[in-house]
Amino acid sequence: MPALRPMNMSDLVKVIKIIEAHDEDDGEAAEKDYLDSGVENQFVLERDGKIIGVTGYREVSGTDQTAWLTWTYLDEAHHGKGYGKSMVSDLLDKLRNLNARKIFTKVSDYEDPEDGKIYERALKMYQSLGFEQEVVSHDFYDEDEDQIILGLPLREEDSTFSEEESNVAEEKPIIRFDGLYEIAETEGAYSFSWVVKNKKTLFGKRCFTVEDLKIGLESVKSSGGRKTFLTFPSNLPLIHNPLQAAGFKYVGRLENYYEQGVHEFHFSHDLNNL
Ligand SMILES: CC(C)(COP(=O)(O)OP(=O)(O)OC[C@H]1O[C@@H](n2cnc3c(N)ncnc32)[C@H](O)[C@@H]1OP(=O)(O)O)[C@@H](O)C(=O)NCCC(=O)NCCS
Repeated sequence: MPALRPMNMSDLVKVIKIIEAHDEDDGEAAEKDYLDSGVENQFVLERDGKIIGVTGYREVSGTDQTAWLTWTYLDEAHHGKGYGKSMVSDLLDKLRNLNARKIFTKVSDYEDPEDGKIYERALKMYQSLGFEQEVVSHDFYDEDEDQIILGLPLREEDSTFSEEESNVAEEKPIIRFDGLYEIAETEGAYSFSWVVKNKKTLFGKRCFTVEDLKIGLESVKSSGGRKTFLTFPSNLPLIHNPLQAAGFKYVGRLENYYEQGVHEFHFSHDLNNL
């Protein structure tokens, strides 16, 4: 039976071959990701000493044991035999043993003119492992290519927890945008980077203003962007009015993303409406 073992950098060429056989752009993006972020918590699936699959996870800093599934691909010659599902299931067991709380994964709904919906099998596999759809961002990867985010709780949440009675504090930090970037793996989807300034500075009047958001949107437009996507924790009450006034729409939320009771709110802005 195939078994998972930790991935080494020396496995990179074989792993990228498997990924790019499915989609060349994915291969390129995966290689960059492994080189930038390393292979910690990445695993390969071996059968008779040959690498036939890859999967893994990355922890999200600043959250209570939340992780994202990373590149999950199986050599095409071995599709449909249950290996993909058992590979991911083994990875989820590892995470449960580490007491991880929740894992997320994202899938595109891309429809290839020849091969059809090439991620459909992955979507079905995640759903059959218990993942549930939480946020769908339309035209995320490209025009007419949506991103579907699915989540899976890995341990029992506290059933006595009540959002109304929780002690999740509303926070009103000073948020400053400090740049914009094209989101990896997308064509023309941008996001703003932001920092939290805890101390009021002498010139600290500007804090998450509509003007700041509009400056960012204009910059995205002049960089050739189509859409802007922003995400924020759910306990920041002061963000909603400026986002709405600047034309952002609420897309949905990733449940208990930061910790139980603190979700991740997703917003988008279609630059055609600017
Ligand atoms: C996704 C992938 C890892 C699944 O591996 P696999 O070994 O082919 O799948 P399995 O045989 O383990 O089947 C897993 C589930 O996929 C679904 N599935 C299997 N074959 C399928 C098919 N021909 N069409 C649609 N769904 C199918 C089933 O729901 C199955 O679960 P079930 O047996 O409980 O019903 C593999 O197909 C792959 O590498 N796909 C391309 C890469 C990819 O899309 N990666 C994810 C990027 S987000």
